[in-house]
Amino acid sequence: MNTTETPAFPSRSQRLKAATHGTHDSLDKRIMAEDIFASRARFARFVRVQYRFHRDIQALYAVPALVALLPGLAGRCRLEQIAQDLGDLEQGLPAAAPTALPAAVELPHALGWLYVAEGSNLGGTILFKMAAKLGLGARFGASHLAAHPDGAARHWRQFTAALDAVPLTAGQEAEAIEGANAAFRTVRGYVEEEFV
Ligand code: HEM
Repeated sequence: MNTTETPAFPSRSQRLKAATHGTHDSLDKRIMAEDIFASRARFARFVRVQYRFHRDIQALYAVPALVALLPGLAGRCRLEQIAQDLGDLEQGLPAAAPTALPAAVELPHALGWLYVAEGSNLGGTILFKMAAKLGLGARFGASHLAAHPDGAARHWRQFTAALDAVPLTAGQEAEAIEGANAAFRTVRGYVEEEFV
């Protein structure tokens, strides 16, 4: 008889998803409640949230230890496209601000933040389709939400495969979960500030 129990969430990315499900769900509902597709000006507020979040994590995409673990990491940074989208929407960039990340961010914590940033591309594909009704798309105003040429799902699986393969102790994985939750809290804070 096989008595080995199958863990409910066998991979790290699945555990991160489970641990942040509630925060993601409430963030998603909070953003949609703001009717961000009512006008380009409302959509721009969401893009400002994206800008502030991606500016916080921009430096992570060039950290050698992270690049070594996550192939193609540098190419995943979307800050430039977000800035371009804000320009298309005739918005200035949000004022300079200190980064929300700890100054000497530990690698597991950084992995949690990157999980949130990369995962947000999945919901991004839905938002991308909805942005079309405002006349926005890959070439104008919503370029940062456009799916990767490989396909959003495939691009995500490449990331999670690498993330799942990073050797972490149980304690370090808890730090990654804390990093993901901190990222979600930060984004939520930006939503509250941009949609006053
Ligand atoms: C209104 C806005 C949003 C909607 C409608 C939305 C919707 C979705 C959907 C449908 C998925 C795919 C779930 C799945 O395949 O199982 C997803 C995944 C995800 N989203 Fe969102 N999302 C939104 C905003 C965000 C934001 C702002 C962030 C973070 C900054 C975020 C982070 C994530 C993450 C990390 C995942 C990956 C979950 C996993 O591990 O599979 N989402 N989102």
